[in-house]
Amino acid sequence: MYFLKAALSYVHDFMTAYIGNAIVRRLRDEAYSNIHSLSMDFYTAVDSARVIARLTNDGQLVQNALTKIPVMIVRDGLTVIGLTGFLFYLHWKFALIAFALLPVSGVLIARFGKSLRKTSRLGQAKMSDLYTLIQETIVGAPVVKAFQREDYERDRFRRENATYFGIYMKNARVESLSSPVMEMVGAVGMGVILWFGGKDVVNHVWTTGAFFAFIGSALSLYQPVKNFSRSNATLQQAFSGAERIFQLVDERPTVKEKVGAAQLPPFSRTIEFDNISFAYRPDRPVLQEVGFHVNRGEVVALVGPSGSGKTTLSSLLMRFYDVQGGAVRIDGHDIRDVSFHSLRGQIGLVTQETLLFNDTIRANIGYARAGATDQEIMAAAQAANAWEFIQDKPQGLDTMIGERGLLLSGGQKQRLAIARAILKNPPILVLDEATSSLDAQSERLVQEAVERLMKNRTVIVIAHRLATVKNAHRIVVMEHGRVAESGTHAELLAANGIYRHLYELQILEK
Ligand SMILES: Nc1ncnc2c1ncn2[C@@H]1O[C@H](COP(=O)(O)OP(=O)(O)OP(=O)(O)O)[C@@H](O)[C@H]1O
Ligand SMILES: [Mg+2]
Repeated sequence: MYFLKAALSYVHDFMTAYIGNAIVRRLRDEAYSNIHSLSMDFYTAVDSARVIARLTNDGQLVQNALTKIPVMIVRDGLTVIGLTGFLFYLHWKFALIAFALLPVSGVLIARFGKSLRKTSRLGQAKMSDLYTLIQETIVGAPVVKAFQREDYERDRFRRENATYFGIYMKNARVESLSSPVMEMVGAVGMGVILWFGGKDVVNHVWTTGAFFAFIGSALSLYQPVKNFSRSNATLQQAFSGAERIFQLVDERPTVKEKVGAAQLPPFSRTIEFDNISFAYRPDRPVLQEVGFHVNRGEVVALVGPSGSGKTTLSSLLMRFYDVQGGAVRIDGHDIRDVSFHSLRGQIGLVTQETLLFNDTIRANIGYARAGATDQEIMAAAQAANAWEFIQDKPQGLDTMIGERGLLLSGGQKQRLAIARAILKNPPILVLDEATSSLDAQSERLVQEAVERLMKNRTVIVIAHRLATVKNAHRIVVMEHGRVAESGTHAELLAANGIYRHLYELQILEK
């Protein structure tokens, strides 16, 4: 029997672990997969640490419950049913007395559960605050050190950590309280039965054997009930964890692809911003009645003061957001009518802030196209003036570039991002030039790379470099979310408006 028990116990433990892990793995997969079908407003609004906490910590909580709870329900549930039957068989009146206490325990379990769920929710929120703090201060270490805020950060962390501790201890208090309280309720029932049952035995109404059988069974009954209440904490944490994971699973994109959306044919004629209006938040318009077009083969430069809505325009062309008035059209097709794939596949985007991943140089350039060969990656790197510095690295294309490319210089990062866009080789290019200035040498390398990237493409360039602006076919000057003026460099200088003003400022800077 013991050999059998050992074998079964192994199978049992393994199976429950398997089931718990498999369910949570699938939940995590689904939540993560859903995250990447959401729209840009989700990513800008959400706290990344909070998402991390949901996928990791909350998953763990659900897993804990899944490995414990089914066994508890089956094993302890069966025990309760069996013993209950036996108690009623032995003495139905006393059995009723014992059971009169069950509703009391039920109420108590529910009360504890509510409190546990609340503290667990608070605890998780605090935990993700801690994540954020750690993440930010490690990435931001240069700022922490330069401003000598180490003590401040230590204090801040200690405080948050203490709050988490407090919440956790509140949880522990309720959890530790539930078992003794349940035991006390049990003791009351047992006392009643001992008192009246004992009398019956003394008066020879009940046999000693039956009495002890009853007491024994009743005692065994309280153990599983106690288990239920003890597992309550695990269960409640799992409930609130599951709730949070399912929020991620259930979140829906705000920018949706049309059902049966058409394919956007290969770009051939013109991109048109037709009188568009847009706001991130309803009460604060960012773009108002913006209209201009870009013909195939043209380079159109967007210039204008910081915050005038240039980057926002590029996000609208990528359909990261939907316009609220007017329409963006490519070759006459409203971009809301075509598939994301056929739209975004034709546009190369070089963002203002260089976004790279903690991976090898090869993977970062190759990100543009799955299955790109080393030859193609090398060619892209050469065109982007990046090949030289890549070769200087001992590991070449296999060099890891660190979180967000931390191990590279600013100019190197920019050139990698350009190489990535070159590899994609899109007909339309949206180039949001970085505002951070580089030294002359680095600047020249980047400028050359940019020129190669722009060659033979239709380009919307959000320009901060004079060279880029001057050579554009047309310049659209943005101000306060509107098109203030547009024309060629010469025309705009002659117009003596805001462009001329900006231009003179830049000349003075150089
Ligand atoms: N995700 C967002 N949510 C809310 N407001 C935003 C968001 N992104 C930008 N804004 C606001 O929209 C306005 C336009 O921003 P945008 O990034 O388009 O400016 P920009 O012209 O690219 O400026 P810069 O030259 O400094 O890059 C700004 O007032 C900015 O604060
Ligand atoms: Mg911008």
